[in-house]
Amino acid sequence: MTAKTHVNIRKLTGRIGAEITGIDLRATISATDAAMLQEQLARHQVIFFPGQHLDLQQQKALTAVFGPTLQLPYVTPMESDPDIIRVYKGADEKGGVFGGDWHSDFSFLEIPPSGSVLNAHRLPPFGGDTLWASQAAAWEALPDALQQLLLGRDAIHVGKPYGVKWAPPVKEQSGAGIQMTRGDPTADRERRHPAVLQHPVTGRRMLYLNPTYVTRLGGMSEVESAPLLDQIQRHVTRPEFCVRYSWTPGTVAVWDNLATQHYAVNDYQGYERLMYRTTFSGPSPRDMAAVPTNAARNAAE
Ligand code: SIN
Repeated sequence: MTAKTHVNIRKLTGRIGAEITGIDLRATISATDAAMLQEQLARHQVIFFPGQHLDLQQQKALTAVFGPTLQLPYVTPMESDPDIIRVYKGADEKGGVFGGDWHSDFSFLEIPPSGSVLNAHRLPPFGGDTLWASQAAAWEALPDALQQLLLGRDAIHVGKPYGVKWAPPVKEQSGAGIQMTRGDPTADRERRHPAVLQHPVTGRRMLYLNPTYVTRLGGMSEVESAPLLDQIQRHVTRPEFCVRYSWTPGTVAVWDNLATQHYAVNDYQGYERLMYRTTFSGPSPRDMAAVPTNAARNAAE
């Protein structure tokens, strides 16, 4: 059966995020609806579908609308399906949450995920929201001097902090909702991506920076880069460029991982939260580099 579509799209803020109702994602998604969903994602950068209650196969079918599913380093996926990560925090778990710092997903990979899908199953009675920041809106409002400094420049991304910071030795992980491994040579190494991308659908330019994995800008040391990266990151996460989403069970979200950063809020101690996450791939950031209008300023290293 094909989904019956009377779609309603409600923007959640002036810059990022829309809620889409009137489409049943449990049914087969038609080519017309797939094209509409891709366009809405490109336009709003994160889209939310309340009340869908997708099972995992339906979630994978939705994911495939946006690109081939991707398996990821460090995080241990579900045993029954390596394409799915069970994002779980138990009521008795103390400490951090998965994704509890501003980041975009796995930007240290040669071809990072183009986007992700998060499917809310069990939620705390309050809290457990997720925030997204638009790196496109942030670029558009960035002072000219910073735009000029970043255009045509690479940023250096390293996955190693992921393994080291978030993957404690296995014996310390017992009881944790998510298991992680350390020391993945394909992910621990440095990778360069353009600091500014151009979206292939909308043509909008957008920052591609990541406070969790970017260690420095091309042609600069870590010490030289740090104050600039801090300043830009404060700008990216200004409330004007963010949407904060309060989940309800059965809601599914899809986000553009190259156009946004996100942050899982860890404020529901004593309650459990269960989400299922899938990830899809797309073009390489290198092929999306925003071309500077003047001479390339990437310092040769
Ligand atoms: C993540 O994908 O970073 C987790 C987001 C969340 O659990 O809200």
